[in-house]
Amino acid sequence: MSNELKVKRVSSGKRSRDRLRSNLTPARKRTSVTRRCPESKGDMEVPKATNKSLDATFSEYCSDTEDLFGDYDSIIADSSFLTKLDSVEQNIIHDIDYANRGSCPVVQKHENLEFTSLKSSTENCPKPLRDDSVTNSILEGFGDDSFRDIPSSQLAFQQDILQKAGMNCCIDDDKTSTPMRHPEKYLATEDKKQSHIAPKARKSVSDQLKKAMMDNATAPSSVSRAVVQEAAIVTKEISFALEAIELVSKETTDLGPFFGLPTKVKELICNLKGIQDLYEWQKTCLNLDSVQQRRNLIYSLPTSGGKTLVAEILILKELLCRKKDALFILPYISLVQEKVRGLASFGMELDFMVEEYAGSKGRFPPVKRRGRRSLYIATIEKAHSLVNSLIEAKRLDNVGLVVVDELHMLGDGSRGAIIEMTLAKVIYISKSTQIIGMSATLGNVQDIQKFLRAENYSNDFRPIELKEYVKLKDSIYEVDTKEEECFKFSRLLNFKYSSAMQKMDQDHIVALVAEVIPSQSCLVFCPTKKNCENVAAMICKYLKNEFIQHKQAEKAVLLEALKSSGNGLLCPVLRRTVPYGLAYHHSGLTSEERKLVEEAYSSGVLCLLACTSTLAAGINLPARRVILRSPYVAADFLKRSQYKQMVGRAGRAGIDTHGESILIIQDKDKDLAKKLVSSPMEICKSNLMHDNGKGVLSLVLSLIGLNVTNNLQKIRDFMNGTLLSVQEKQLCLDKNLWDVTQECVELLKEKGLVTASTEPKDGTLQVTKLGRATYKGSVDLTYSEVLYKDLSKGLECLMLDSFLHLVYLVTPYDIVSQCKPDWMVYFRQFTMLSAAEQKMCSAVGVPESFVARRAAGQNVKKNVDQVVVNRLYLALVLLGLLKETDLWSVADRFQLSRGFLQTLLSSSSAFCSCVLHFTEELEEFWPFRALLTELTRRLTYCVQAELIPLMEVTGVMEGRAKQLYNAGYKTLSHLANADPNVLVKSVENLFKKQANQIVASAKMLLTEKADALQEEVDDMLTKPHDLPSL
Ligand SMILES: Nc1ncnc2c1ncn2[C@@H]1O[C@H](COP(=O)(O)OP(=O)(O)OP(=O)(O)O)[C@@H](O)[C@H]1O
Ligand SMILES: [Mg+2]
Repeated sequence: MSNELKVKRVSSGKRSRDRLRSNLTPARKRTSVTRRCPESKGDMEVPKATNKSLDATFSEYCSDTEDLFGDYDSIIADSSFLTKLDSVEQNIIHDIDYANRGSCPVVQKHENLEFTSLKSSTENCPKPLRDDSVTNSILEGFGDDSFRDIPSSQLAFQQDILQKAGMNCCIDDDKTSTPMRHPEKYLATEDKKQSHIAPKARKSVSDQLKKAMMDNATAPSSVSRAVVQEAAIVTKEISFALEAIELVSKETTDLGPFFGLPTKVKELICNLKGIQDLYEWQKTCLNLDSVQQRRNLIYSLPTSGGKTLVAEILILKELLCRKKDALFILPYISLVQEKVRGLASFGMELDFMVEEYAGSKGRFPPVKRRGRRSLYIATIEKAHSLVNSLIEAKRLDNVGLVVVDELHMLGDGSRGAIIEMTLAKVIYISKSTQIIGMSATLGNVQDIQKFLRAENYSNDFRPIELKEYVKLKDSIYEVDTKEEECFKFSRLLNFKYSSAMQKMDQDHIVALVAEVIPSQSCLVFCPTKKNCENVAAMICKYLKNEFIQHKQAEKAVLLEALKSSGNGLLCPVLRRTVPYGLAYHHSGLTSEERKLVEEAYSSGVLCLLACTSTLAAGINLPARRVILRSPYVAADFLKRSQYKQMVGRAGRAGIDTHGESILIIQDKDKDLAKKLVSSPMEICKSNLMHDNGKGVLSLVLSLIGLNVTNNLQKIRDFMNGTLLSVQEKQLCLDKNLWDVTQECVELLKEKGLVTASTEPKDGTLQVTKLGRATYKGSVDLTYSEVLYKDLSKGLECLMLDSFLHLVYLVTPYDIVSQCKPDWMVYFRQFTMLSAAEQKMCSAVGVPESFVARRAAGQNVKKNVDQVVVNRLYLALVLLGLLKETDLWSVADRFQLSRGFLQTLLSSSSAFCSCVLHFTEELEEFWPFRALLTELTRRLTYCVQAELIPLMEVTGVMEGRAKQLYNAGYKTLSHLANADPNVLVKSVENLFKKQANQIVASAKMLLTEKADALQEEVDDMLTKPHDLPSL
């Protein structure tokens, strides 16, 4: 049975890819092409005649170089070489014409010939009459397999456009001179069709011709001096022509009808995203010179301006036209997953891989995808590890484009430092990689521009007008920064409150929301998680019963789904609020609950969310009205950028005519609020010096480890290319950057992470084993020593009777401060441990007597490390989760929110994979490797084993996995081969769009896994290059 399924899976998956690649070169062939390809780094370099590398990517590189000589228009008038070209081309057309008329019935029969059939038909044809080496070389080109390297969608489009342009081409006729390798380059804008297509149709002919002529001209022969001179002239002429062409192709970029992309992309954007046409600014941005010429770019627009689509189109151009990989960096795991789900269908349709790098997912270095390009979608941390692994594997040049969403996060503590390191490395190492950054809230774009050597595009466009208001007492004021007072009286709030109600709702939130819901939507941002729940419950209390009748059936379905996501348990607050169309939204919800709530809000089933500021970051959940319940996040006054992000959610494109935000303030906050609405955006500062210069330390360590720099001088050069260097005067007050760098190196030496060569005057730096393990495992420098000690101690008496000891070793150090133990719970759990487990607890430094005394409320004088005690507490939580796999009951037992438990799980699984990489570099830790591999998997998917294969698919969470499993979809292969229509019918509450995404993601994952296995096979079968020979 399973065999049958396997066969079905492979053939079906392959079928769909084959359909797309009906004109593609078979993989094996491609490898052989690859092997002939020379090694080169720059994207515009002409291949050299060396034959060093077998890297699969070079086959793509080769086809890139064939595009180099794109546009002939500007040199057509003055090149005698091109006159010759014309006549040769005429001859070829004549030859083919002749062949077709005379003896090629195959060609004539098939009006819509594809390149493959063209090849066979020419094979069937008699040899061209001329025995001319130039002509022959061109005809060889016809048979080149790489001509097939065109997705069928592009081919169809190409046929269409050529027909429209009245071209006599081999595709729809048999008169053309050259089949096209890069049809997308022919996709000229409507009015340019005629003028662009004709000259370009000669491109490959000219390439072949140039090559042949170069060969001919340079070939040694025993001919007369006059002939040699003539040849020399021709050679010179050719090299002039080549230079000119190179210049032209560098300066111009072919544009297709959809920004250089096949129309299929436009159709997909329309079908999958529902976007018919681009906004004007999007068109302008995509046509910018900097974009065309691949210079780095920062673009800033207000929230909801549609920035993502521009980035996605640029990514598709990189993958499909330039045939390079792309890296898309997003700030949160949930955003990465959402993007992977959204773009998987594009990947399946357009034949590229979409790879998730979030949490514990993602391989380092990534699997080589023989022939297919990859889009890596990564969190900030994973993107850094990915770039490091590509530097180490000398493959960073394969990444043609790096896109950073929410670029202002450069200023966000240690995460900002990681973005800065990643980008600085890309700029320093891979000059041909383009960087695009986008943001809604950049105050000092010039600094960032300088750092990224980027141009800037900004626009105030908002699809929906935003009106900002503040509410003070019972008056609403419009924000008008031109007014001296900033606030202009607008109206009095209309409400009739009883005295009890006035007491409960002093800020008149109910009156404000009742003006819009249920027919329109509303977001209420609250300062704390608890406040979100209270506000949602309070509003319901005063809403009329008619609210319950609105979309009652849909709300019942939502409640059912929430209940089944909680294994039959439902949050009591949601149980009360959902019938009124309300919910709260914060990190205390499980990711599954969050997703259900978001979907219900998007589809209008819920009309109001009481949420924390996290909802404002990147998630696309707009509202007619946004209410800021107070100008605080926890105890801190709002920052300008936070305010902008929140109010930016107001206004739903295509639904509302305008959106409005209302900030509720008290008298005491009036002045601060004026500043908040009118001040410029905050400055985005480098964070390499954040937390005692932790960023600089780990940057320098990895630079030495990766062999990017190995002496102080080079490190200094590198540091000059950072944002910290741009802002040196502001940030390095006590000592300059050079001093900072020197100190860092000294500190790394002290910590035993780096050593210097003992040769006098040499000064070469290298990392120690511990240093290598630290940067390879992306382990925070503060913890690398303690991690080493903990693991060493673990080796002495590793308790494998249960998961507890291993789980303790991978409980992240930095999450410990977020949770204080409940001593009673701690003690109860402790007493329930086995004797072996209790012994292990004592061994790591937490004896039972200590916990017992704390539970009894006694102060303990004993010297116990509080970090170890707290860490063990979290390890007990994780143990509970691994044993029971029931988030709700464990959350209940430890009195923690289920959202926190999920965060604990995902950060532990991520840290577990870091520790695994750490141990891989240190021989003494070999026993940990197999153990941690399995533990990572268990922590990542903390569910019953049979659900794991389904949950590997991006976006499939436990509840959905259970439904799918029960409906008979038990393996990845089942999902990859599923018919979305059947899926929708057999799984409750599954929308068609979701079903499509699940199937596309499953197909993608299956392909990914098959590729990884194929790579292993290829490696295994490859003859070693250093095989001893006689
Ligand atoms: N040309 C378009 N026509 C219609 N809708 C569009 C267009 N471009 C983007 N959108 C839609 O606009 C919404 C907001 O776009 P997007 O998420 O890219 O905004 P953003 O600029 O990234 O905002 P933020 O700064 O909040 O992240 C999305 O639903 C997107 O599908
Ligand atoms: Mg965005």
